[in-house]
Amino acid sequence: MNAPLARFLLVLRGLCVAAAAASERVLAEDPLVEEGASSGRRTGRLYCRVGIGFHLQIHPDGRVNGTHAPNHLSVLELFAVSQGVIGIRGVFSERFLAMNKRGRLHATEKFTEDCKFRERFQENSYNTYASVMHRNRRTGREWFVALNKRGKAKMGSSPRVKSQHVSTHFLPRFNLQDKAERGFTIADRNREQEIAAPPQPKPPSPSIVKVNTGRKRSETVKYWPKFRFG
Ligand SMILES: *[C@@H]1O[C@H](CO)[C@@H](O)[C@H](O)[C@H]1NC(C)=O
Repeated sequence: MNAPLARFLLVLRGLCVAAAAASERVLAEDPLVEEGASSGRRTGRLYCRVGIGFHLQIHPDGRVNGTHAPNHLSVLELFAVSQGVIGIRGVFSERFLAMNKRGRLHATEKFTEDCKFRERFQENSYNTYASVMHRNRRTGREWFVALNKRGKAKMGSSPRVKSQHVSTHFLPRFNLQDKAERGFTIADRNREQEIAAPPQPKPPSPSIVKVNTGRKRSETVKYWPKFRFG
């Protein structure tokens, strides 16, 4: 390896270490960010690509279905329960998504075993959510959270609800003003290049974290790169 290249790599490594240290300090200074990072708590929406596309929503009366246009009932908090297992809470309804022993989706005020779902990545970057508690007793087939093409909740126990089908495919969308965001933004080519550029070492500044970046919500959608909550 020639000397200039070695020097360049050394500088690059220094920048990365500095950036990492800076972000760690920022996390430590903001309890909300720290909590989000350590507990795997994320607030966003679950978008199912079935039909015209629906966001999973949880009603205050415990009903669960989909809404094409995102609204306050589709704001969900996903939190880790154990490795690969999460809970899903409607932020406004204050109810937890649950699947009962017949495979029916509903939402409860108390968090129970019915509210635990195993989150898995599909190759297409969508996730599936299978009940941890309930499955077909005879065949062992798992029961998945699913919406039909008109946005109604499907019975997980239905033989047509399979992990290969779009009705069970959900894309976590975190375009809310979440301070703990570490997803990437797809806006346009130029921005993508900006994101691809190496991190600039900046001194940690708590004010930067607290202040909203002011980016227009409607123009950008944040996607989590293959992110596991559990
Ligand atoms: C979802 O449920 C609500 C309340 O029951 C209802 O008003 C709405 O039309 C339903 N949406 C769909 C897509 O079924």
